[in-house]
Amino acid sequence: MDNRDLAQGESQQTIGILGAGRVGTAIARLAVAAGYQVKVATSKAAAENELIIEIVTPGAIAVEALEAATADLVVVAIPLHKYKSLSAEALSGRTVIDAMNYWAATDGDIADFENTELSSSEVVAAYLSGSHVVKSFNHIGYHEMEPDAAVSGSPGRRALGVAGDDVGTKERVARFLDAVGFDSIDTGDLASGKFFEPGTQIFNGSFTSAEFSRVLKTGLVAV
Ligand SMILES: NC(=O)c1ccc[n+]([C@@H]2O[C@H](COP(=O)([O-])OP(=O)(O)OC[C@H]3O[C@@H](n4cnc5c(N)ncnc54)[C@H](OP(=O)(O)O)[C@@H]3O)[C@@H](O)[C@H]2O)c1
Repeated sequence: MDNRDLAQGESQQTIGILGAGRVGTAIARLAVAAGYQVKVATSKAAAENELIIEIVTPGAIAVEALEAATADLVVVAIPLHKYKSLSAEALSGRTVIDAMNYWAATDGDIADFENTELSSSEVVAAYLSGSHVVKSFNHIGYHEMEPDAAVSGSPGRRALGVAGDDVGTKERVARFLDAVGFDSIDTGDLASGKFFEPGTQIFNGSFTSAEFSRVLKTGLVAV
């Protein structure tokens, strides 16, 4: 999808992506295609990632994690069990999209996420206490991100949930989602991210914004 025109209002923004795995690289390619300046980092030194970033996400640049954290909007796409390896200090004051999920099968049982009523993003937000955390991108498979991205207004365009405590921050994230190819549904505060965590109907399906809203209200849309 070439959605550059859509991104015009946001195209001067930088997008930092922490994690250069399946999800991080897919979002990076979408953001590059939408005209953003994209900086990708892992826990490794930028020099170690340069070649792979050039090949896998052409147009994005490999940076140190601390530099990615200074972007206007930061996507966190790392295995959840590593969330405390993020620099809460570097991310303080930043808009952070939490694309992570708690999968005991791959993350192992983590007490922080097992013994709590909190959504996983609330746990992450408690750690990133100075950041404006929004949950999104977690309920779409990495392999669906590029094929399902569509220009704004396309019939059947897929919608992604946006949960967060600050309305203005959610609006910024919604504009980013729109620019890279998705409608968005504001599900409410960060706690409402539970509605699209693993095991939910929304997590297991693919929905337009109308369908997504209906699932939220009634839970009646079949997966
Ligand atoms: N796979 C999916 O379809 C999918 C869809 C939606 C959401 N998610 C969620 O998204 C997250 C990432 O999934 P994935 O499948 O992309 O994982 P992945 O392929 O294993 O990639 C994880 C990436 O995170 C990097 N990383 C680890 N610690 C880091 C840190 N402190 N700072 C920066 N980068 C760090 C890793 O590189 P180094 O180890 O070299 O640092 C690696 O590049 C998970 O929480 C997952 O539940 C996955």
